[in-house]
Amino acid sequence: MVETLPDVLMFLLVILGSAEASCNATCLQSCDCSYLDLTSVPQDLPAIITDLDLEWNQITTLSRSDLSRYRGLETLDLGENLIYAINSQAFYFLSNLTTLTLYNNQITILRSDTFTGLENVHYLYLGYNEISDIQNGTFGPTPHLIELYLYNNKLTSLRSDMFTGLGNLETLHLYSNEISDIQAGTFSSTPQLRYLRMDQNKLKNLGSDMFTGLGNLWDLWLDNSEISDIQAGTFNSIPQLSDLGLGHNKLTTLRSDMFTGLAILRDLWLDNNEISDIEAGTFSPTPQLRDLRLDHNVLTKIIPDMFTGLENLQILYLQDNKIHDILASTFSSTPQLGVLLIDNNNITMFPFSDLSNQTIYRLYLGKNKLTTLPSTVYDILSSVADVNVDNNPWQCDCRMLPFRSMMNESHSYENQIHCSEPSNFHGQKLIDISPEDLICEEPTIARFQQITNNPLVQGDTLRLVCEASGIPTPDITVTLPSGLNATVESAGRVTVDVNGTITITDVTDADAGLYVCIAVSPSGSGSATLIVDPPTVPTTVTMSSITSTLATTTTSTTQETTTYPESTSSFSTTFSVVSTSSKHVVSTPSKQPESATTFSLTALLGAIFGSVAFTVLIGGIILTIWCKRNSQHVGEDYSVLLNTTDAATTAI
Ligand SMILES: *[C@@H]1O[C@H](CO)[C@@H](O)[C@H](O)[C@H]1NC(C)=O
Ligand SMILES: *[C@@H]1O[C@H](CO)[C@@H](O)[C@H](O)[C@H]1NC(C)=O
Ligand SMILES: *[C@@H]1O[C@H](CO)[C@@H](O)[C@H](O)[C@H]1NC(C)=O
Ligand SMILES: *[C@@H]1O[C@H](CO)[C@@H](O)[C@H](O)[C@H]1NC(C)=O
Ligand SMILES: *[C@@H]1O[C@H](CO)[C@@H](O)[C@H](O)[C@H]1NC(C)=O
Ligand SMILES: *[C@@H]1O[C@H](CO)[C@@H](O)[C@H](O)[C@H]1NC(C)=O
Ligand SMILES: *[C@@H]1O[C@H](CO)[C@@H](O)[C@H](O)[C@H]1NC(C)=O
Ligand SMILES: *[C@@H]1O[C@H](CO)[C@@H](O)[C@H](O)[C@H]1NC(C)=O
Repeated sequence: MVETLPDVLMFLLVILGSAEASCNATCLQSCDCSYLDLTSVPQDLPAIITDLDLEWNQITTLSRSDLSRYRGLETLDLGENLIYAINSQAFYFLSNLTTLTLYNNQITILRSDTFTGLENVHYLYLGYNEISDIQNGTFGPTPHLIELYLYNNKLTSLRSDMFTGLGNLETLHLYSNEISDIQAGTFSSTPQLRYLRMDQNKLKNLGSDMFTGLGNLWDLWLDNSEISDIQAGTFNSIPQLSDLGLGHNKLTTLRSDMFTGLAILRDLWLDNNEISDIEAGTFSPTPQLRDLRLDHNVLTKIIPDMFTGLENLQILYLQDNKIHDILASTFSSTPQLGVLLIDNNNITMFPFSDLSNQTIYRLYLGKNKLTTLPSTVYDILSSVADVNVDNNPWQCDCRMLPFRSMMNESHSYENQIHCSEPSNFHGQKLIDISPEDLICEEPTIARFQQITNNPLVQGDTLRLVCEASGIPTPDITVTLPSGLNATVESAGRVTVDVNGTITITDVTDADAGLYVCIAVSPSGSGSATLIVDPPTVPTTVTMSSITSTLATTTTSTTQETTTYPESTSSFSTTFSVVSTSSKHVVSTPSKQPESATTFSLTALLGAIFGSVAFTVLIGGIILTIWCKRNSQHVGEDYSVLLNTTDAATTAI
């Protein structure tokens, strides 16, 4: 029982404490009046209190008389009320106040007399209001303000007179406003500012006069702000800057004049932009950089002079770009690099030997396009404490044999190498495959042939297949009759699928001829040839030529030929070709509408009757002449002519 006595005393103290904090005359120093649905400041509390909590009430306006009773207040919390009006000099008597909390109210404007009297205020919380204007002189009465929170308001631009008087301000939060403009000199009145959060605004361009006066700034956050350009020398006025956040913006190119003046910058975040290019020397002005984030951009190539000057860089984020090439010696300018994250890119060859001189302890290369690892890489990877090479299309063939022979299950990354090829090892771990099974085979072509039906018609799609095998899987190149080469990378009329299917659309005579399929892999090459016959003339053209042929023999159908504008072809087409083509038309109705066929047959009949009439007419004329001349000369020439006419008639 004796042992429990202190506990009882403790309990009594707790009771007493809570009584002190209640919202009535019993509270001695601090009064808790939160969550009471109050619509005004209670006037029955002891006048000597120093802390008043009025959070979560329904107060809408504040006047000087509301607070004049509590002149010794040091902290006043009015957060989560409905305050939309702070009358002139409402805080006039609160000269001992150090902390004023007004977050989450409905304040729209701060006037030059709003904070009159708050000569000792250090911390002012104004986040989550509707503030769209801060009048000239607002902070004149608050020279001791150290931290000012104005996030989540409606400010659209910062004027040079807004922060006048804040000579001691160290922290300023302006994030989540709609600021699109910062007037020159805005921060001239805040020379002690160390921490400035301006992220989540609408700044599009950063100008060289925006940050003048920030000679002591350490941290600047400009993330999520639509920034697409930074003028040369913008940061020259912030020589003490240590952390700069520019992530989630719209930067596309980093120029060598963008980061000048940032001699002691340590962290630079440029993630989630649209950066595709980094000019040589971009980071030369920032030799103290330790942590550089360039992840989630669209870089495709990393070249050595991109990182020149980064002698102290320790962490480099490059994941989630489109990098396919990292040139050798890229990391020679970053001898202190410890963490290198390049996962989720398109890297096929990584300059591992560069790392032999580095202090790398974390290397992430997962989700790339790496296929093979030479033996020299084994010791390099083994020297890195934390390696990730998972999710690469590893090819477990003879090229991996030296590396495999060195594996001894003493490093965890050895378990991440899952084979993608050859297909019989797909999904297996390299370490589970015995070295003698890691083989290569020279490429051979089992089949190279046309797989579309003959006869091929102009304008059709031609498909060939070139089936190649070998370990590793060979790359296929097809040399076309034109002499040009097509590969899986080709786009346009001729495409080559990885499975060996070659597709040629809109076939013309120029596609006929010799095709050569060449299969190449590191273990050799093989080739095969194929001759493709010229495509036949499409049926529509043939039908036009029938009409054209007829037009030469009959005058009656001349007009109708104009209804075949595509008519391109040979007048030499004979009747026998016409009849076979007509059959072809019937067998492929989709190519030649039925009505057109009918029309052509009508024309044909017309032509026949026309020819008969013509022959009869000529015959009549000749007969007349012959009759007239019969009495004078009986010539052999005329009989020949008559015989010819008879022959023509018979033929028809
Ligand atoms: C003051 O408030 C406390 C807690 O609400 C209550 O227990 C106490 O009785 C009140 N005192 C007076 C004098 O109203
Ligand atoms: C303000 O604080 C000072 C110093 O602590 C003190 O002497 C003075 O009485 C306080 N003013 C009021 C009105 O309580
Ligand atoms: C702001 O107020 C100060 C002092 O009242 C005055 O000198 C200055 O011209 C004003 N600035 C602007 C932009 O109105
Ligand atoms: C990687 O390269 C391939 C082919 O070059 C391309 O289709 C793909 O989109 C690239 N992937 C990335 C993440 O850039
Ligand atoms: C490694 O460092 C040595 C001396 O610092 C240098 O001579 C050599 O070229 C470096 N090798 C590579 C691959 O960077
Ligand atoms: C595995 O190989 C590494 C490097 O070759 C060596 O340092 C290590 O001692 C070996 N571990 C075992 C268990 O043999
Ligand atoms: C096509 O590829 C073959 C074999 O790779 C090569 O010899 C030839 O020069 C290439 N032709 C063209 C036009 O690129
Ligand atoms: C090869 O790929 C093409 C296009 O993806 C496809 O149409 C064709 O069926 C495939 N052929 C074989 C043999 O898999």
